[in-house]
Amino acid sequence: MVIVITGASSGIGLATGKMLAEKGFTVVGLSRNPKPDAGFDGVACDVTDFKAVETAFNEIKEKYGRIDALINNAGMGIAGAIEHTTAEDLDKQFALNVMALINACKCITPIMRSQGGGKIINIGSVAGVIPIPFQTAYATTKSAVDMFSMSYGLEVKDFGIKVSVVMPGDTKTGFTANRIKNEVLEDENYKERVSKSIQRMEKDEQNGKPPESVAKVVLKVLKKKKPPSRVTVGFGYKCIVFLQKILPRRVMLWVVKKLYG
Ligand SMILES: NC(=O)c1ccc[n+]([C@@H]2O[C@H](COP(=O)([O-])OP(=O)(O)OC[C@H]3O[C@@H](n4cnc5c(N)ncnc54)[C@H](OP(=O)(O)O)[C@@H]3O)[C@@H](O)[C@H]2O)c1
Repeated sequence: MVIVITGASSGIGLATGKMLAEKGFTVVGLSRNPKPDAGFDGVACDVTDFKAVETAFNEIKEKYGRIDALINNAGMGIAGAIEHTTAEDLDKQFALNVMALINACKCITPIMRSQGGGKIINIGSVAGVIPIPFQTAYATTKSAVDMFSMSYGLEVKDFGIKVSVVMPGDTKTGFTANRIKNEVLEDENYKERVSKSIQRMEKDEQNGKPPESVAKVVLKVLKKKKPPSRVTVGFGYKCIVFLQKILPRRVMLWVVKKLYG
């Protein structure tokens, strides 16, 4: 089985690539700075460059004969009040987390269809179903990943292409250090709330689960004949997502405001 992972040089993508390679899968990672000692093949590719992704997929298909699975994992986060978020940062956020993921699915579709099918796992986030103030843009991108995966999944189901979303919660990776922060400490309207909220999210991430916990779930989904359309990582987060479904919206929003607002 040939598996392509985007964002495979760090965190969840690296841990997943290593685990899958150890299990005997052929893994190719696409990252801007591939790790030479990762234990699987790496291609230098900025996934926001649509043409480069198409070329990389075609080259991988030529080299290995097929691509059985695509894991769209590359992502980053921006934090801060929307009022102070620059257009440039918003563009970066959506270009990587949403547009690049959609483009990768678009490019892989004819390849997988020609093989009679394949699996796509899009890495979403619990933040895609639970709102998080001051991570609003990030949460919005992950919500888009969830809806895109369902809608696109229905478009390609008849080609044998199965699309799943894996939703991690806080995970200890380079994500925290790579976050773009707009704290704007001189604005009294937000200053303390934003700082507290960011501190809390950073602490939660750094005390979060190791990236291998997400890799295990990805492996499970890959092995399934009928993969779930969405799976949350970890019992605690499964409970939170369940509660979000059954609680009245205003109660859920009250709790989130207390924690992050
Ligand atoms: N950590 C968490 O708490 C958490 C929770 C829920 C969901 N997630 C999601 O999990 C995914 C992986 O994040 P992570 O936590 O593993 O973060 P990470 O350690 O920062 O890894 C991000 C990966 O994305 C790659 N990347 C970034 N920009 C890229 C680009 N333009 N082209 C190609 N690759 C690019 C990076 O590689 P290069 O720099 O080499 O390009 C790196 O391999 C993301 O989608 C994130 O939103 C994370």
